[in-house]
Amino acid sequence: MDAAEIIGQLARAEGRVDPYPLYAQAHRLGPVTSFAEDWVLACGYDSVNRVLRNPAFGVDSDELRRARFGDEPIPDSLSLLGASMLQSNPPVHTRMRAPIASVFTPRRVAALEPAVVGVVERLLDGLGGRDSGDGRGVDFMEEFAYQLPVSVISELLGVPEQDRRPFRSQIHDLSRVLEFMSDDSDLTAADAAARELGGYFATLAELRRAEPRDDLVTALVQLVDAEDARLDAAELLGNLALLLLAGFETTTNLLGNGLALLFDHPSVRAALIQGALPVGDFVEEVLRFDSPVQLTSRTALFRGLDVDGVPLPQYGEVVLLIGAANRDPARFHDPDRFDPWRADNQPLSFGAGMHYCLGAMLARLEARTAFTALLRRFPAIAPAQGAQPVRQDRLLLRGYATLPVDLG
Ligand code: HEM
Repeated sequence: MDAAEIIGQLARAEGRVDPYPLYAQAHRLGPVTSFAEDWVLACGYDSVNRVLRNPAFGVDSDELRRARFGDEPIPDSLSLLGASMLQSNPPVHTRMRAPIASVFTPRRVAALEPAVVGVVERLLDGLGGRDSGDGRGVDFMEEFAYQLPVSVISELLGVPEQDRRPFRSQIHDLSRVLEFMSDDSDLTAADAAARELGGYFATLAELRRAEPRDDLVTALVQLVDAEDARLDAAELLGNLALLLLAGFETTTNLLGNGLALLFDHPSVRAALIQGALPVGDFVEEVLRFDSPVQLTSRTALFRGLDVDGVPLPQYGEVVLLIGAANRDPARFHDPDRFDPWRADNQPLSFGAGMHYCLGAMLARLEARTAFTALLRRFPAIAPAQGAQPVRQDRLLLRGYATLPVDLG
């Protein structure tokens, strides 16, 4: 199988459900392979890491799109996220990221721990009451894995509880624009979600401008209004939508993927319950083994660049297979084995370089707190007998749509 066939298979439903055999094929071709005149596939750990850290490879920003495609109209979803730091290159990226990053310092995130514990305990209280007793169990994704991160990020942003209900489907739709090889129906759904979310945050920003509170929306509105305006109005909305998107769909999937792996590895569950395995090591191996973000991409900003010797023209694209890099046999011993005891485990699941995930510490805190409390409260939690788990039909954001459990 050559690189073009691997990419083709990854874009199909079977490839999305289980991309790992295709990643193994990619490793056989080498860490970097070109698969069209201006496309390169990188699956090697060191190669992916190097491209992410090399500022000569940029993200697909508005500016870049204009340079490549002229003044073609930009769909609403791309224009909303295009104004966020995730889709900006320096110096715009540096200007936006610095003030927002100050909210996610280790000290600020550590201070959130009591609040995260509070949300976890409240959700676990609720879970027990939801099992109908008919064997179909409780959907862990709906009742817990989604609820925890959306509550935490909404509290940080200052989104009132009664406004959060539509977020799950809106964010699910908006993220379709980031999906690998998205099609027209993805774009239509993503654009509609972008208009709704953009409108929602514009109204919330006005409310906070009139009546400031101690929350992130207020802090970002003040950046827009300051004399040295570190953000403009479009960047405010883009970054608020990004924080919401990045803040929960990924973490939701980390929780679901982790629980499914616990079901498959009873000895790991026993070690966690006995305190013989640090929960942080378990979370790190879940991130490596079944990464909630499977890939990203970068564009060559200049002429004459290459990816580890494979040349790429200006504006050529590099597909960076994070999920494959995490299973690179040259970096991880026996990479297809789930082994939370492995040494020197540093998956690329949160990216690397200037776009390194701003919420990595928060996501780890949420996952550690969730698994510790879940196993303490429901040590015998198991897959429900009367219902099957269903995977999301996605490649980029990998997770479960439903994961029915019996709480034991
Ligand atoms: C398990 C959970 C998470 C995973 C796997 C994850 C993964 C990632 C990855 C791979 C990137 C880099 C994308 C790229 O370089 O193309 C990223 C960026 C980002 N993430 Fe996360 N993320 C998670 C949770 C969070 C949370 C909880 C937040 C916020 C509260 C967050 C906020 C962000 C932001 C703002 C960026 C953009 C940073 C920039 O462009 O400078 N993420 N994330």
